[in-house]
Amino acid sequence: MAHGLQIRDEESGYNENLFCIPKHYEEDLEKVFIPHGLILDRTERLARDIMQDMGSHHIVALCVLKGGYKFFADLLDYIKALNQNVDKSVPVTVDFVRVSRNDSPAENISFDGEELSALNGKNVLVVEDIIETGGTMKALLSKIKDKEPRMVKVVSLLVKRTRQSPGYRPDYTGFEIPDKFVVGSALDYNEYFRDLNHICALKENAKGKYRM
Ligand code: IMP
Repeated sequence: MAHGLQIRDEESGYNENLFCIPKHYEEDLEKVFIPHGLILDRTERLARDIMQDMGSHHIVALCVLKGGYKFFADLLDYIKALNQNVDKSVPVTVDFVRVSRNDSPAENISFDGEELSALNGKNVLVVEDIIETGGTMKALLSKIKDKEPRMVKVVSLLVKRTRQSPGYRPDYTGFEIPDKFVVGSALDYNEYFRDLNHICALKENAKGKYRM
């Protein structure tokens, strides 16, 4: 199930009037693609799969900011719930890395807010919101591997099916989605829409309103 729950290209989504959407975004969204409840259900199962594979040794959960924060918090809650109900639990510590993308090329990605030195000898779980080309994740992984962790696994809530993708796949995927720009559940467009619970497609003509 490494490819996650597949959302087909033809998926029309749900009418946004059937869900609670902040008023200030109502006109900008095409459809609700992944309702909040489904995101949580899938996250719970990812936590179980991750603990089965990594739960024998100290885990450092590394949140890729900013988009990863909501998924990270939900995933960690489920991991904690599993970890406090077993005979042999393991410490789970957290770390944060902020990614700045200075346009293409992919190598032009910088990371700040951390030293990553605490990863040496640990089981590292990198928690990301969305993978599109995989460029960001590959750059981050090469930085992490320099710190000689014991094991590195990547979980991404979303993986986008795109033609530019060179085929990078995370170890765990929540949902595989069509090649559309999505917002919500901490995924933003110019910092907006992080305060939307559901993952929604953004109307193309709404982007102008939120330009920087
Ligand atoms: P990649 O390096 O091409 O895999 O791009 C991944 C990054 O692009 C993510 O961490 C997001 O910040 C951003 N991104 C890609 N697609 C979307 C989207 O549909 N909505 C919001 N952010 C996106």
